[in-house]
Amino acid sequence: MYNDGFHNIVNVDYSSVVIEQMKERHKEARPSMEWHEMDVRQLTFEDSEFDVAIDKGTMDAIMSSEGDVWNPPEQTVYDCTREVSEAVRKMAEYSCTSPLDNLIFEEDS
Ligand SMILES: C[S@@+](CC[C@H](N)C(=O)[O-])C[C@H]1O[C@@H](n2cnc3c(N)ncnc32)[C@H](O)[C@@H]1O
Repeated sequence: MYNDGFHNIVNVDYSSVVIEQMKERHKEARPSMEWHEMDVRQLTFEDSEFDVAIDKGTMDAIMSSEGDVWNPPEQTVYDCTREVSEAVRKMAEYSCTSPLDNLIFEEDS
């Protein structure tokens, strides 16, 4: 996306290792990209700060943290859908790439 002209990109991951590695990897080729160590369940951005939110693998990581990813515990589903609701309220568009997206969006509606 950055290479296609979208230079106002903010990235989050709760792993400090991931964030430091990504900062280092992209600092010269993509200098305006921001990297924040942050839990998606506790975003500290302002409401409506973003036009689009894109999830690639984070919901999958959360869903697969307990038991069977294809049959996650109800509490895990609830936690994830609560997070999605929070993200949608704060952001204008939400895109999620996950084989579980039906489950996520059905629970959210
Ligand atoms: C499958 S990796 C995907 C990483 C990256 N989005 C990509 O596409 O290369 C899942 C990532 O989700 C992060 N993650 C898991 N739970 C998270 C949470 N609650 N908040 C923020 N990041 C989380 C992990 O640290 C891991 O880097």
